[in-house]
Amino acid sequence: MAEKTQGKTMQVNQAHPILTDTHTFLKVEHLVVQYGTIVALDDVSLEIPANRVTVLIGPSGCGKSTTLRCLNGLVGIERGTITYLDASVQGLSQTDLRRSMGYAIQSVGLMPHLTVEENVDLVPRLLGWDRSKRKERVDKLLALVRLDPEIYRKKYPNELSGGEAQRIGFARALGSDPPVLLMDEPFGAVDPLNRILLQDEFIRIQRQLKKSVVFVTHDLEEAVRLADYLVIMKDGKIVQADTPEQILSSPKGEFVERFLGPERSLQRLTLVTADRCMEKALSGLDSDASAHLPDCSNLTYWQVDEDGAPVCGYTRSEGSIIQKPITSAIHTVQIYSSLKDCMAKILNSGLSAAAVVDERGRLCGEVRFEAIQQISIL
Ligand SMILES: Nc1ncnc2c1ncn2[C@@H]1O[C@H](COP(=O)(O)OP(=O)(O)OP(=O)(O)O)[C@@H](O)[C@H]1O
Ligand SMILES: [Mg+2]
Repeated sequence: MAEKTQGKTMQVNQAHPILTDTHTFLKVEHLVVQYGTIVALDDVSLEIPANRVTVLIGPSGCGKSTTLRCLNGLVGIERGTITYLDASVQGLSQTDLRRSMGYAIQSVGLMPHLTVEENVDLVPRLLGWDRSKRKERVDKLLALVRLDPEIYRKKYPNELSGGEAQRIGFARALGSDPPVLLMDEPFGAVDPLNRILLQDEFIRIQRQLKKSVVFVTHDLEEAVRLADYLVIMKDGKIVQADTPEQILSSPKGEFVERFLGPERSLQRLTLVTADRCMEKALSGLDSDASAHLPDCSNLTYWQVDEDGAPVCGYTRSEGSIIQKPITSAIHTVQIYSSLKDCMAKILNSGLSAAAVVDERGRLCGEVRFEAIQQISIL
């Protein structure tokens, strides 16, 4: 597998982890799956890297979910083999599979008659973990997906928003701390804003936990953002599998080119997170920006409140100083936001940079327009 490329004019430290320092943990060879006369998978071979995110994407009906379900031993295979750490998946028991692989699916969702706690606890309980360890685990997982255990533990799924339910689904998949996570459109039913926040969370958690993830999505931007290894499928076959950078720069054939669409260059910006090119921000409580902004500079000065949250941005433009009030979701980004998101926020504010805030909304840096420009455009 190719090593991830970096920006030509700017040192972007490992936009994603490098694929060459990993190994294959799941190997699919010449897989054929048929449903009656329908060939759902037609000679699929795939090597899935450990501790990385592999994303399957392609048009509806191309075989993404079937591939995922085969990995979990849920589908009968006509021909071919799936090997998990040198063992055949078909030979593993359901208990072994549960222990090894967490499964988050959009459509099945949570058990409606079980509380959040019972849902998250499902697999650890089936595996016979002791009660105190399970309670500790549920609290830890709820905290990881940023839902307060005191508030959410006893709720039922119908008392959750779509985004909260998907967080719980994710927590449940992580239940027994499996090395592998299989995720089938886990953020499918949420609105675009919450979807981006869930992706931010996913990146944050994945950088911490380094699971081996196989993730199915319909959304190209989501795929490019999250994938270390991107697999494009069509009609039960794999048409290209590589790093997102490589696929964006060298799409194989007309189908992939059409699938990536005319925004291919812009998608490059979704590959890099804000923290990779964040710089120190000029800030203070003072509302007199002229004292802070050198003449002729195009820097941004951020006025912050007493908690450190940006309230106003100032920049010089054609001899005068322009001032823009800052509203958190509209003008600020988080450290795992994409550069595409930073670009959108810069355009929203008209300033020369986007303010980067931490989870409590405090200014922690900025991403400058020039820095984004320097990321190589395909
Ligand atoms: N249980 C089933 N019985 C019969 N045919 C099935 C079954 N499951 C899937 N198929 C068929 O197999 C093919 C692949 O389906 P699959 O669910 O893997 O597609 P997908 O890529 O996940 O699509 P989507 O993006 O719509 O979820 C489709 O033609 C589908 O109709
Ligand atoms: Mg599907």
